Amino acid sequence: LAVRAARRDLAGLRVAVSAGGTREHLDPVRFLGNASSGRMGWSLARAAVLRGAEVRLVAANVDLPPPPGIDLDRIGSTGDLAQAMTRAAKDADIVIMAAAPADFRPAEASQTKIKKSGDDGLRLELRQTTDVLAGLVRDRTDPDQVIIGFAAETPTETATLAELGAAKLARKGCDALVINDVSGGKVFGSSTSEISVFTSDQYGGGRHGPWAGTKDTLAHRVLDIAVELRTRR
Ligand code: CTP
Ligand code: CA
Repeated sequence: LAVRAARRDLAGLRVAVSAGGTREHLDPVRFLGNASSGRMGWSLARAAVLRGAEVRLVAANVDLPPPPGIDLDRIGSTGDLAQAMTRAAKDADIVIMAAAPADFRPAEASQTKIKKSGDDGLRLELRQTTDVLAGLVRDRTDPDQVIIGFAAETPTETATLAELGAAKLARKGCDALVINDVSGGKVFGSSTSEISVFTSDQYGGGRHGPWAGTKDTLAHRVLDIAVELRTRR
């Protein structure tokens, strides 16, 4: 790690990272969200700064202190994330979507607190949120910009990690997809993880890893791949 940081191979580059989990409000006090801690995004931002990059970190509901030397933008919903990342990606050389966006939002958010009515349950109508990553790929203007996504998957006998990774990579259109195997009760919020990285057909469609370790170590692996992809664009 020390060697990579000393090399400062990201000097002069701008890196935009998203972290955490977005929330979609049902009413002023309730939301649909997820358990993403934001740790992977924090590790990516810290690693990129150590390697000399100028870093903008867009954080959705992350309960961690701001990493030093980083331009931090705290946001809430998937819509906010789309806006903030679109702005951050405009002049970024490397874009990494480590955030876990809520996939659905209420068709209508109530301006007042939703009350129980007798013994009745509650039926919610949900709409899909915008796919931020797919939008960043679609609207990319800098042909040298590298865009990397993250996904947590649970492989089964009928769908292996490789199949799930290849399918999602193709659907998103990004340059690489970092896949986290979360089968077997591996939990969110941990400081360690296991990842495999799938690169798009443009780069020969390779699979890298798997690597296990702290999120700080894995962040450097992901940045190594970003650097490698830049030289091949
Ligand atoms: N992503 C995004 N916008 C969304 C959903 C996901 O930008 N509305 C990004 C995530 O930040 C991540 C990548 O897409 O980098 C993969 O996220 P994932 O939730 O695995 O993808 P989905 O398309 O939402 O597929 P799934 O139905 O498996 O959740
Ligand atoms: Ca999703």
